[in-house]
Amino acid sequence: MARTALMNVMVAAVLKAGRGLARDFGEVENLQVSLKGPGDFVSAADRKADKTLIAELGKARPTYGFLTEESGAIEGNDKANRWIIDPLDGTTNFLHGIPLFAISVALEREGKVVAGIIYNPVLNELYTAERGAGAFLNDRRLRVAARKALPEALVGSGVPHLGNPPDAGETALAQRINERTAGMRCLGTAAIELAWVASGRYDAYWHFNLHPWDFAAGALMVREAGGKVSDMTGKEKLTDRGSVLAGNQVIHTELVALLANKTPR
Ligand code: IPD
Ligand code: CA
Ligand code: CA
Repeated sequence: MARTALMNVMVAAVLKAGRGLARDFGEVENLQVSLKGPGDFVSAADRKADKTLIAELGKARPTYGFLTEESGAIEGNDKANRWIIDPLDGTTNFLHGIPLFAISVALEREGKVVAGIIYNPVLNELYTAERGAGAFLNDRRLRVAARKALPEALVGSGVPHLGNPPDAGETALAQRINERTAGMRCLGTAAIELAWVASGRYDAYWHFNLHPWDFAAGALMVREAGGKVSDMTGKEKLTDRGSVLAGNQVIHTELVALLANKTPR
């Protein structure tokens, strides 16, 4: 598949950081059985991936700024362009030796995300999207699922837990959605789960309190695959530490209504 120069730069950086993460993931299995566990090792792997991405993207586009989960905001001379990066989304999975984690990189230009990548180096799944040019899994063009009825819909979310308490009414909402759909999945990686909405594995995904590095690439992926992304109230502009609701056009509309406590069809 012919890629743009921008996408080549992003793919090269992500593949390099991904090789490091895949090597470190192999090591985690050995550390599980040690008394200390792999915690510190995983934090180091996370920071290493962050450094690799900043170095590689910085080499290719020296003036762009960064917002990364591990390094925070780094101002660039070019105020119009910044990379939004989660070097390891699905940290808890990684820590437990579960191969569902990803690097997420987005390019924001003049406040709009114009390109995104979500890469799982263990499953070798590379999701890419550019604004107006579609979304792809490796070389295959993505479309959101065509399912049109809530009872058939498989819906992903994140369950509140220690360190991430529920938003007001969140538990009741989860129950309301579960009672009307084919089921909920909580895989612990917002980036991959959004990519799965884009690829049609999921029909929808919803989550309170996500950060831009969790959803920037994934939201573009869903939109470029023909889906809808908004906050829980249906507003398309996503905010920092905001809520995210993604799905195909019909299921998204149904869920906005359901979340607003309106009766679904
Ligand atoms: C987390 C994952 C998880 C979501 C959390 C995120 P991290 O990111 O995306 O699925 O439920 O809210 O913080 O910490 O693994 O990068
Ligand atoms: Ca994350
Ligand atoms: Ca992370």
